[in-house]
Amino acid sequence: MSTRADLDTDQAHLLHPLHHPSAYASTRVWVSGKGAMITDNTGREYIDGLAGLWNVNIGHGRTELAEAAHKQMSTLAFHSAYAGGTNEPAIRLAERLSGLSYPSINTFFFTSGGAESSETSFKTARFYWKALGKPDKIKVISRHRAYHGLTLAAMSATGLPAFWPMFEPRTPGFLHVDAPDPYRFVNADANVSLGVAAANKLEEAILREGPETVAAFIAEPVQGAGGVIVPPADYFPRIREICTKYDVLLISDDVITGFGRTGRWFGLDHYGVEPDIMQFAKGITSGYIPLGGIGVSDKLRDVINGVPAGKRWMHAFTYSGHPTCCTVALANIDILEREQLVERAGQSGARLLQKLRGLESMDSVGHVRGLGLMAAVEVVADKTTKQLFPPAAGVAQKLTEAMLDRGLCTRVAMDCVCIAPPLVTTDAEIDRLVDIVGDAIGAVVIEAQQHSATAAARS
Ligand SMILES: Cc1ncc(COP(=O)(O)O)c(C=O)c1O
Repeated sequence: MSTRADLDTDQAHLLHPLHHPSAYASTRVWVSGKGAMITDNTGREYIDGLAGLWNVNIGHGRTELAEAAHKQMSTLAFHSAYAGGTNEPAIRLAERLSGLSYPSINTFFFTSGGAESSETSFKTARFYWKALGKPDKIKVISRHRAYHGLTLAAMSATGLPAFWPMFEPRTPGFLHVDAPDPYRFVNADANVSLGVAAANKLEEAILREGPETVAAFIAEPVQGAGGVIVPPADYFPRIREICTKYDVLLISDDVITGFGRTGRWFGLDHYGVEPDIMQFAKGITSGYIPLGGIGVSDKLRDVINGVPAGKRWMHAFTYSGHPTCCTVALANIDILEREQLVERAGQSGARLLQKLRGLESMDSVGHVRGLGLMAAVEVVADKTTKQLFPPAAGVAQKLTEAMLDRGLCTRVAMDCVCIAPPLVTTDAEIDRLVDIVGDAIGAVVIEAQQHSATAAARS
């Protein structure tokens, strides 16, 4: 079928994530992938600058995963893992994760994706405090610019207001504190570092709300969809201190940062901090099949296992512990280990960041940041004031298009070009990716400046 015909049928029958028909004009039909490259139905190749949606860690076209799925589906594609039933792939995967994740986290529940994992974390935090006789500890604190998914409670924890208005009211009991953004956080306390000052915002919020009402604080080790915000090194140690002091569970949202993306298996490994709950999705199967989940610390596991049967952890999904998905995850982890892709993400990430820093000399590049193969370039109208271009200039959309035109597919969030290619991306592909980002920014910014000058002349 031609692209036009495909798109007409798409328009007639499909609603997309973040749906609006205006996107059709620039929609591509993706048909295949190999390594870090993806191909559309005209045969044009692009560097996959965001590894699908931050998830295709082992790269495209790995038939080992298809073979693993085929074998498991031919044996037992699915049966329920509700209490009273189990299956070998789920058992093996949980055991394997206990060896890879934070030391005190050894017990896992599986979901089908990130938002279900957020819901599970929030409910588990509330369950824990109720089981300990503290039923008023129900609130969840997250950060501005956080992304935790878009089911109703997850959307309420997500700190990007663009996702809220058409679906409000949000779930009560969710509130946000400032993100530890080294570029934009204003540190009003001269006595402490930016990282500690940003973490202290959590303490202020807990005290304002009353510690007896707060169940948990959820944070991505590196904020992804909010523009790749890498916290200062002293942020999470102080967060851990605050959570422990006020009996607030720390939930690490490792949905993007898990499975090697940042050069470590899980994001908080960089900071020597252990969460009480960790959640994952995306990279656990490199996106080849949907799977997510949470891990709970031994302390939480003992409480979950210790309640009477009538007060059980009454939480479930049909596809929890799905044997085929767990088999694919095991095959994916085999590849991550065998090809040392976690270490490679650290090395390639260092190269990526060093090359991207070369763009900081451009007038319109305000900030470059990254950790492992997760980076962003923030485009601004004015470097001194850090002012963004006005929304009417449409910089994000134009940048996305300009990069596609040059052979790079990625997303732009709040004028931050987000970069998170597969962990198998070669040095040559990384260099090419950076060239395209610089070139696209140069072209789009000239247009945006002209737009601003015309708008100023008119007013
Ligand atoms: C950190 C984080 N948490 C949760 C989610 C939600 O995952 P899903 O889209 O699978 O529901 C995402 C998705 O991008 C994410 O980046």
